[in-house]
Amino acid sequence: MKIVRKIESYRKLYTSLHGPIGLVPTLGGIHEGHLSLVDLAKSECATTVSWLFLNPKQFAPNEDLAIYPAEEKEDIALLKARGVDVLFIPKTEDIYPVDFDTVVLLDKITKPLEGSRRPGHFEGVTTIVSKMFNIIKPDKAYFGEKDAQQLRVIQKMVKDLNFPIEIISCPTIRDDDGVALSSRNKYLSVTERREATFLYRGLYKAKVCYEQGERNSDVFRNIVIQELKKSSLISIDYVSLSDHRTLSEISGDINSPALLSLAVHIGGTHLIDNVVLQ
Ligand code: PAF
Repeated sequence: MKIVRKIESYRKLYTSLHGPIGLVPTLGGIHEGHLSLVDLAKSECATTVSWLFLNPKQFAPNEDLAIYPAEEKEDIALLKARGVDVLFIPKTEDIYPVDFDTVVLLDKITKPLEGSRRPGHFEGVTTIVSKMFNIIKPDKAYFGEKDAQQLRVIQKMVKDLNFPIEIISCPTIRDDDGVALSSRNKYLSVTERREATFLYRGLYKAKVCYEQGERNSDVFRNIVIQELKKSSLISIDYVSLSDHRTLSEISGDINSPALLSLAVHIGGTHLIDNVVLQ
């Protein structure tokens, strides 16, 4: 695995890379979820490039940037062992020079869900992902469905701004007890980790109910809320049932694919999860 730290060095290397190039973007804190994106990229592309950058602009001042569980050495070893060909680790000063003055901002699709709770988050994401696409020039880029709104936002940005890149959505990877893998799971105590099982339990119950023929949107939100309320450690940020594509909240019956999503705090840890009802 080649490690590249300078934009000019990547530009030189790029001319010798075989296409298609698959990009796996990460903030670090590599786990099996990221590595499943690497596996998929490797199965579809001649060259797999990973991006490792703890992007400060997507964290609000009150969020966990300072303690985000990214260990460069461990992350490099995991990505290398999984067969990444090129790992790009930019420096903050190269990505955001002092005169950096551009923001890529999507409007409606960034307003609900995480956007309503995390001001500035999505403009941080879309700005860095635009830069990443311009620097790496991938043919395909792999994003996890656990961050469902991020995935929709990036798909929309690629369409609206005509990036010549195919966005590949990759299934959420779960532990045996259903908890979605996330770098932030490392913050959970043993008790909190046990309580985190209520998230997928609620989503899974709702999915079974959908498969049995239920279509009323309130029923699904209630199933999830009732399950989350069984834990005294969980505080609910939102439980939402929205249109899978536009993310606008659904009232009444579901008649097209819908995203059932939730965000909670367990102790100080912000966790999200979702299932698609279709
Ligand atoms: O999902 C992430 O890890 C980040 O938001 C991303 C896409 C790498 C941008 O910093």
